[in-house]
Amino acid sequence: MGIDTSCKIGKLQLTTPIIAASGCFGYGTEYSEICDLKAFGAIVTKTITPQPRVGNSTPRIWETPNGGMLNSIGLANVGIDCYIKQKLPELKNYPTKIIVSIAGNTISEYGEMVEKLDASDVWAALEINISCPNVKEGGISFGTNTRMTQDLVKICREKTTRPIIVKLTPMATSLSEIAKVCEDNGADAVSLVNTYVGMAIDIYSLKPRIATITAGYSGPPIKPMALARVWEVVNAVSIPVIGMGGICCGEDAIEFFLAGATAIEIGTMIYVEPNIAKNILNDITHYCTLKNLVSTSQLAGLFLKTREFNTTCTISG
Ligand code: FUM
Repeated sequence: MGIDTSCKIGKLQLTTPIIAASGCFGYGTEYSEICDLKAFGAIVTKTITPQPRVGNSTPRIWETPNGGMLNSIGLANVGIDCYIKQKLPELKNYPTKIIVSIAGNTISEYGEMVEKLDASDVWAALEINISCPNVKEGGISFGTNTRMTQDLVKICREKTTRPIIVKLTPMATSLSEIAKVCEDNGADAVSLVNTYVGMAIDIYSLKPRIATITAGYSGPPIKPMALARVWEVVNAVSIPVIGMGGICCGEDAIEFFLAGATAIEIGTMIYVEPNIAKNILNDITHYCTLKNLVSTSQLAGLFLKTREFNTTCTISG
């Protein structure tokens, strides 16, 4: 019997719990011929802003020697009007759900974007980006502030009945508190982690590796830190948590599910292996068979059970 890989994030029903992360899958069409789209339950398109943006000066991407990546793209995108007119319609008959990522400079800009998007029936959910470390206004400054997060989630919630996912930054001091604010103000799920703030210097030229000096750090080296943040938030909220951060193989993905993530997002490693979702899905279902599970959604319970058992043993021992 096959393993049931479906998962539910609020009203959003996905055929697999693997999602392509925003910024690593373009506007959704670029990868259609080089990977099996059906392995992704959903794809998140590049974050869209109210106006078109050319992004930050170059160099704006640097691969670190330990397999990580620094990026400071600066939310380069075509802007909401062009996105709705040209990019979204191309995704109409896609074999996977479309999640639209948005970011604004002000709270009211977020509301205005949701209002415009709500006229389209192509997308299934929104991912509200309050965690980009590479822009002067908005971005991470919202995601580290509980009051701003509250107002922002509230305004987006008023403008659509479709599922809202809020993408969080690991740079927030109290990430659990921010996640709780999202839950209390109507978010259907939170996704984390976006990139950590990092930097690198070329010691010969004495120039920063990235023009903006600091940048977002992602890829395999951040995985243990991301997993700990996901675990922290899973224990703080009741809404689904979508885990991400350096996932590069089936074992990494399974760790996030064991920590309680309902779904996972794959980001940087898509650049290395566009078909990574298919490989990871195979590994997860194989692991479920080994563990006598009938569905991937049962993974979350496994680790928790072991912990309860171990705690009992320690106390009684
Ligand atoms: O610079 C960027 O476009 C990154 C965006 C993000 O991390 O959300």
